Amino acid sequence: MASSMINTLFGKDASAYFATFGFIAASYLAFKIALNLIKVLKSVVFSGSTNFKKLGSWAVVTGATDGIGKAYAKELARKGVNIVLISRSEDKLLDVADEIAKESKVQTRIIVADFGKGLELYDSIRTQLADLEIGTLVNNVGMSYSSPYYLLEVPDREEFFMKMININVTSMTMMTSIVIPGMVERRRGAIINLSSASGIHPTPLLTVYSACKAYVHFFSQCVQREYQSQGITCQCVMPYFVATKMSKVRKPSLFIPSPETYVKSALSKVGVSEVTNGYWPHSLQGAILLDVLPEFVHNKLMSNILLSARKRNLKKRERESKKD
Ligand SMILES: NC(=O)c1ccc[n+]([C@@H]2O[C@H](COP(=O)([O-])OP(=O)(O)OC[C@H]3O[C@@H](n4cnc5c(N)ncnc54)[C@H](OP(=O)(O)O)[C@@H]3O)[C@@H](O)[C@H]2O)c1
Repeated sequence: MASSMINTLFGKDASAYFATFGFIAASYLAFKIALNLIKVLKSVVFSGSTNFKKLGSWAVVTGATDGIGKAYAKELARKGVNIVLISRSEDKLLDVADEIAKESKVQTRIIVADFGKGLELYDSIRTQLADLEIGTLVNNVGMSYSSPYYLLEVPDREEFFMKMININVTSMTMMTSIVIPGMVERRRGAIINLSSASGIHPTPLLTVYSACKAYVHFFSQCVQREYQSQGITCQCVMPYFVATKMSKVRKPSLFIPSPETYVKSALSKVGVSEVTNGYWPHSLQGAILLDVLPEFVHNKLMSNILLSARKRNLKKRERESKKD
């Protein structure tokens, strides 16, 4: 019935062409899904055995007082590496240093720095790191939007954009530039850069954040290719949601893990994957969103989610301004 309708509409033998085309398209999709399942399986099965202590006695973690950065600092300390913690607030840095001292027999140092500022920061950081054998650098510090916005709606937008670029892009570039010469000299080291899934998918309404994270994605891959022959691994970590202050998700779940669960998994991928979602449910999410769903469906889905978050936030702000 269907084939005779197709033949009537498109001419004799058209149904055979349609069947062949359908078969090729279905095979291509099946092949892509199989490749992605292999990728997900790889992220479940393979774990690296990087000995971080052997890379160098110190690790530096930026944005180390909360969320993912704090989890990296504590997990690396558990592996016997001394930690330099860098964030804005001295009190929080001292608290984390205290927690680490109670849990692990390693040394800690703190550096108070606001990465929202520009280049003036880095001479002092360079001096404070000069005498340390740094084997691991975790460029974790990051800042996102308080709510999705169109580019022109962002409050105090130009100041905000500069701050966001300084925190997400300048900090990673400068910290790498400060730390990598020592790694090259010793011919070993690991640089772990926190990007985001929005550095893979263009994410409108979080435009500057998404663009900054795409920079992290490319920067990491280029550094990896330039320096891998000198014993240095540069890994790009691209999480979906993790339950932290930034994501505003309090209760962890399988797909939105706690920072501790996430980091345990992501650290085991150092030396295994140069670019990773870090955690197998996130790899699965990536495989479905990026490779199984057609791009227009994915774009529509993301736009709808972000537009409704924007609408909710605008209403909330309106209610609050009426109260004042
Ligand atoms: N959470 C997620 O769902 C998610 C998803 C994808 C990617 N990521 C990325 O993962 C990284 C960590 O995110 P997170 O969720 O753990 O963030 P978070 O919970 O907000 O923690 C941010 C950390 O950075 C520090 N920090 C913030 N602004 C700073 C500044 N101007 N100068 C110095 N330190 C600053 C904060 O400490 P102080 O306030 O004490 O300075 C805190 O230690 C970010 O790069 C983020 O983009 C997160």
